[in-house]
Amino acid sequence: MTVNLTGRSFVKEIDFTPDELVYLLDLSQELKAAKANGTETHRLAGKNVALLFEKTSTRTRAAFEVAAFDQGAHVTMFDPSSSQMGHKESIADTGRVLGRMYDAIQYRGKRQSDIEELAAYASVPVYNGLTDEWHPTQMLADFLTMHEASDKPYNQLSYAFLGDLRFNMARSHIVTAALLGSDLRLAGPSDLGPPQDILDIAADIAATTGGSITVTDDPIAAVTGVDFVHTDVWVSMGETKDVWTERVAKLKPYQVTTDLMAATGNDDAKFMHCLPAFHDTNTVVGAQMMEHTGMPDGLEVTHEVFESDASIVFPQAENRLHTIKAVMVATLT
Ligand code: CP
Ligand code: NVA
Repeated sequence: MTVNLTGRSFVKEIDFTPDELVYLLDLSQELKAAKANGTETHRLAGKNVALLFEKTSTRTRAAFEVAAFDQGAHVTMFDPSSSQMGHKESIADTGRVLGRMYDAIQYRGKRQSDIEELAAYASVPVYNGLTDEWHPTQMLADFLTMHEASDKPYNQLSYAFLGDLRFNMARSHIVTAALLGSDLRLAGPSDLGPPQDILDIAADIAATTGGSITVTDDPIAAVTGVDFVHTDVWVSMGETKDVWTERVAKLKPYQVTTDLMAATGNDDAKFMHCLPAFHDTNTVVGAQMMEHTGMPDGLEVTHEVFESDASIVFPQAENRLHTIKAVMVATLT
């Protein structure tokens, strides 16, 4: 099947077919190999990309900038402190202005409805660099990393995701695993469970792809037999300090520990995390949270697991570059 993504936005995974996602993943591998071999060409020469960040970022910003530069494109970074965005100019007006100057726009913010509005007004491809609801570019990196680490096709991947199942990372994994036909087991407390409408969408998709999405409150049951254990921060960007105590109390049984990794029963099981992670006290927020919660060994993952040979979080982070590059090359050429 021929896939052509020219001119398309990437604002959420469910706008894409399994073939289109696999096309982006295959292109990511091609572009990664070309960079490693020194054969990369400037397929985005002459293109200009606007990067709008209403929330902070290290990986996503770095990946968009380096991917653009590697391919010969230019970028401009906008945040609320140095632009009119958000406080003095609406999303619709910002989109109409930037769409006349730039070839594509990346947006990271809170509401999915904002990026959908931006995409409706911008008349150029718009890429979701994270909203509270979805983190689609992260999904491409996560699936590429699992494929590389296991050498299994996407529809034979079996993995667990533990923690807060209501937010962007869990939601995106649910629909992406369904689209790619993978076996995803989610574990978290029932009152931090995934929204039913997302599970329903995923079930419909999985019925056509052979994927399997299961939800349990038992972390051991979730990880038994899997190849990968994923987690995410317990308190996401935009949430306030007053949720810490209750959230951590609820999620403590889902911390990824050495014992939990052993419970996979798989000596080759790998640990994954989109990052940033709270695994030590070397950050202001991490130190505050660990002191506040009395968990000196780490929050969602222990320092021991994070630093272990099972941890592939840094190759996973690097793959943000190759996959985001694929999104821009596929949609702008
Ligand atoms: N994983 C991720 O999106 O990282 P940043 O918040 O640093 O972009
Ligand atoms: N759930 C996290 C993901 C960070 C990449 C957040 O939204 O802060």
